[in-house]
Parts: sequence; structure tokens; C-alpha cells
Amino acid sequence: KSAKRIGIFGFGCVGQGLYDVLQDNQRLEVARICVRDKEKLRALPSSIFTYDPQELLQDESIDLFAELISDPAEALFIVRQALKAGKTVVSANKKMVSENLQELVELQLQCGGVLLYEAAVGGSIPILRTLEAYYGSEPLQEVNGILNGSSNYILSKLDAEGSSFQEALEQAQALGFAEADPTLDVEGFDAAHKISIVAAHAFGAIVQPQDILRFGISSVTRKDIGLAQALGARIRLVASAKLNQLGTLEVQVLPTFVYPDSELYYVNAEFNGVQLEAKFAGSQFLKGRGAGSHPTGSAVWADVSAALEGYKYQYPKLHTAAAPDLGENVGLKV
Ligand code: HSE
Repeated sequence: KSAKRIGIFGFGCVGQGLYDVLQDNQRLEVARICVRDKEKLRALPSSIFTYDPQELLQDESIDLFAELISDPAEALFIVRQALKAGKTVVSANKKMVSENLQELVELQLQCGGVLLYEAAVGGSIPILRTLEAYYGSEPLQEVNGILNGSSNYILSKLDAEGSSFQEALEQAQALGFAEADPTLDVEGFDAAHKISIVAAHAFGAIVQPQDILRFGISSVTRKDIGLAQALGARIRLVASAKLNQLGTLEVQVLPTFVYPDSELYYVNAEFNGVQLEAKFAGSQFLKGRGAGSHPTGSAVWADVSAALEGYKYQYPKLHTAAAPDLGENVGLKV
């Protein structure tokens, strides 16, 4: 067989982005794309689509899968089956990954399958593999991120143009940044899902997203924005995970004043930014497009190519004795 073959679940914003990237680099053959809605008009010939997930999952000619559907229950069903069959699967579903991380790690260990999900956090920013490659042996102290592009887009619009919250949200939806249910964006759930995934790769802690202190941008008023401006600050939705003096991990998502001396101040529109504080390396900052079809499709492609080269997450501290002893601390299940 010449080219490797990929099976894709979902042909929404991210699925189409991946498809474009695959067409551009011509390195993989798209076997089939599994979608739910038979009636929907699509840009590709109908012969490429299937409506039966089993047809794709059981196709032995497929080398790996990309799971890019927004429904977390369906996504979990597909990823579980793929992993149980020892297959390789790439996902962009942060809600599904964060809420089921323990099980997904165990399934990989038990069944030999591989799951990568770089696109689930920070869109195009290569954060998870960076955390593993560079911080596996160095104690990280904290991670502060702007991880929800829609919230950041809305806050930036409110800063710059005085458009209404609703108008800005509608624009974020039209641009494909927002979730199918935008409550996940504006109430901070999406950022909580992402920071919980970061916590696993940065600190080896399985933090359930529902245990994270969380407020979204829906609680930010015009008056708050005016106050921030009067102080020379901007309000940004900051997700953070830090080890405090007691060695306890604090994980939270909060609208936060950021000042010009912080890199986060300069993260605008749909961009995401991640600031890392490490014991020896000091402060580092990564910035990139956090949402949208092509940036997210590119992150999926990065995982697909890494998986084909045999890359697996090491979960550096999750399985080593060197893990910080986070045992009985509030809100943590390690
Ligand atoms: N709704 C998400 C966001 C999409 O706005 O960041 C990317 O994960």
C-alpha cells in the first residue's frame, strides 16, 4: 500500500480545516469521512462520506483516525473504541479529553492504542508536546494562559470598538471560533477543560474540570472594562495552574486585570497565549491562533504526523515517583 490512510470523524470547522491541510501536503490518503447529517449540503462528493462510525472503525485499511466532532459523548464513544482496538486516534475534543483523562490514559496503557490531542488546547500553539519535551525534568511553577479564543475575541472587541457583547459573540460564532454551545466559551468551561489538560502534562495532576474555580466573561460588565482602562489594564480570561508554597496545585479560570508588563496584555482577538514559569528556565511565552478552522486543522495535522512517527504522550510526572505529592489536597485527584 502506498500512502497511509486516515479516517476522519466530523466535517465541521476543524474537520474541514484538516481536510484542507491534507490536500495541501498530499502526504495521506483520506479513506472516508464519517458525518451524522445525511441531508447537509457539503463541498465534497458524497462518495467520500459515511454515516456509520463502525464502518470506519472496523476498516482495517485505515492507519489512524482523527476524531473531530463536537458532541463529547459521541467523541468518547469513538475514541474508546479506537483505543480498545489498539488504534491510533487524534482528537480535538477538549471537553471529552479533560473529563475522561484518567480512563483515556489507562486505556492507552492497557490496550496499546495511542491518543494525541494537541489541537484541544491553544489551537495552533504547540503546548502539550512542548511541556513534555522541555519540562519533563524541570520543575514548572506555574502556567497562565489565555486559552479561549472566543472570550478573548469578545473582550478585545469590547475594549476596542465598544460593540455589544452579543454582537461580538455573534462575530466569534460566524468566524467559527465559538463552540456549538457558546455557554462553554463565555462561562469559562472551555478554558477550564483546557487548563485541566495542561495540568496533566505540566504537573502530572488529573484535575477534574468541574473542580476548578471558574468564572467566565459573561460576568464582566462595561463598568469593569472602564475601570480596567482607567487603570491602564485590560481584562482577559486567564486560566492558571500553579504550585503554591505548600506544594498544592491551584487551578482556576478567572477574568483578570492584565497590565502592559505582562505578555498576556498583548494577546488580542482570537489569539491564545501561554506563559510558563519554570524554576531554572525562568519565564517563557507562547502565542498563536487559538481557534479557527485552519489553525486548529494544522494542530491536528501536527499530531497526525507525530503519531505516524510513533510519538506518544509520556505524561511525564503522572507515572513517576518524582511527582509532587498532591495527594489529599482540595479539588485534586492525582
Ligand atoms: N471555542 C474555542 C475557543 C475553540 O473559542 O477557543 C477552540 O478550542
